[in-house]
Amino acid sequence: MIQLSRQYNKLCDLPDFDDPALRAMLRDIVAPGYAPEEELRRKFWEYAMLGLYLEEVGALRDDAEVLSIAAGHEEPLYWLANRVGRVVATDIYGEGAFAVDDREADASMLTDPGHWAPYDYRADRLEVRSMDALHVDYPDESFDVVFSLSSIEHFGQPQDIRRAAAEMGRVVKPGGHLVIVTEMLVKAHPLDWAPLQVAIKTLSGGRRLPRATMRKRMMDAFRPRDLQRDVIAPTGLEPVQPLDYTLSPSTYDNLITWIGDDMRPASGSDYPHILLKGHGSPWTSAFIAFQKPPR
Ligand SMILES: C[S@@+](CC[C@H](N)C(=O)[O-])C[C@H]1O[C@@H](n2cnc3c(N)ncnc32)[C@H](O)[C@@H]1O
Repeated sequence: MIQLSRQYNKLCDLPDFDDPALRAMLRDIVAPGYAPEEELRRKFWEYAMLGLYLEEVGALRDDAEVLSIAAGHEEPLYWLANRVGRVVATDIYGEGAFAVDDREADASMLTDPGHWAPYDYRADRLEVRSMDALHVDYPDESFDVVFSLSSIEHFGQPQDIRRAAAEMGRVVKPGGHLVIVTEMLVKAHPLDWAPLQVAIKTLSGGRRLPRATMRKRMMDAFRPRDLQRDVIAPTGLEPVQPLDYTLSPSTYDNLITWIGDDMRPASGSDYPHILLKGHGSPWTSAFIAFQKPPR
């Protein structure tokens, strides 16, 4: 295992934002201009953790090739285009639930990625392609870095998620790195048990929990056992560190209840935006970095 200066494989935790290096990286990636309190978001944490990890493992090189799976128009694409040789952004642009209302998979990313850029970037370093994560159209071992942020949980049934994880592992070069960020349920809760959700769906005539199936709960988030079985193991790679599931008490202070379109933060303030709750357990982002053994 590589020796690293911090714990990367972990849940998003409010005290992480006390680290000046994380704050500086976050501002570098999303562009300055947010009030310090507004920076307390799990999405910004994902970006900052990716930047810190790639910097520490020496992946920010002019000869490095980077692939983002289900990229949307995330800020790290533009930040990386200024630091590596080639960035390829893939998503099902123009299709699916995220292609409407200016959301992440807006089709305009294919023709005008600059429209979404937060700052000037080296446009010749960024390629954008429409691609299903279940069929990655690149040969084995083609990229120094592959990453996917807050997306794999949306790829469908467990077999689809396993397939996408295997595809990500497949296209990493020997010695290269894979980063998967996904949503984790942070506690066991009976309402997150898929068969119970299906029973509620049936009893409500399909009005409640309409997307629940016997194999997949309504909420697109993992419990540790699902994560191991459907994401970590299928990559075929070893995480660089064990995943630390610790959450500090302060992270719970602004638990945000999110049902339908309604978000209700416990403190009444939109930030920190870190821990959310639907019907069952709260959930937040988990960062998992892997390295493919060098040849
Ligand atoms: C929550 S968004 C995250 C986007 C981006 N990674 C970010 O962090 O802003 C989830 C993305 O997954 C994409 N997606 C869903 N299913 C996909 C699939 N089968 N193949 C590729 N992308 C997919 C959606 O189109 C959407 O852009």
